[in-house]
Amino acid sequence: MFLTFEGVDCSGKTTQAALLVDALRARSGAVVHFIREPGGTAISERLREILLDRSNLELSELTELFLFSASRAQLVARFILPALARGEIVVCDRFYDSTTAYQGYGRGLDLDAVRRINAVAAAGTDPDLTVLVDIPVDEIEVRKRASGSLPDRMESAGRAFYERVRRGYLTIAREQPGRFAVFDGMRNVNDIALDIRRAVEERLEQPHREEK
Ligand code: TMP
Repeated sequence: MFLTFEGVDCSGKTTQAALLVDALRARSGAVVHFIREPGGTAISERLREILLDRSNLELSELTELFLFSASRAQLVARFILPALARGEIVVCDRFYDSTTAYQGYGRGLDLDAVRRINAVAAAGTDPDLTVLVDIPVDEIEVRKRASGSLPDRMESAGRAFYERVRRGYLTIAREQPGRFAVFDGMRNVNDIALDIRRAVEERLEQPHREEK
């Protein structure tokens, strides 16, 4: 079983993914892995450093696309596929929908090309369910300020970029309602977590049928 979490920066998706992992581990006897993108393997974590390093201002948009995809190809081949083959549960904080939303809609790279590259990097590994935690773009600023941390290279993008990314996510989710479940990230953390748990249980009983 392969579950992914998506959303703009500061949406709360990582918190929600962690809460779901705790719930799944407490309830089932299955092995539940919690990984993140970019990252999850030693090589993918090194690519993450390059991608998020604020000093890498010269990184081109196409290079960015390929590095996120390279990180994913490594994670899929060396971690996700073997785990799924053993019948284990994999929960991933971000997957190829991040690339469609950020590099496709956000950076404006050709969407068909992005989708083709996503398909190659994922090697046929599609999520059974993708949780999208949605927040308005104004809220990103509020949460970033409250966190007090320095923005990384990706987080340094402006408001217009995040508007495109958010719109992109909502578009992808509308196109694939069977795979996506969308949650309002402005609600109380525990209420969202409860709804996500219910959605996971429901959706996994009826696998999605649409094309990617
Ligand atoms: P994180 O903050 O959720 O760990 O994600 C790291 C950043 O990388 C975040 O700003 C989103 C961005 N990202 C992309 O632009 N494309 C991708 O394919 C992935 C996986 C992440």
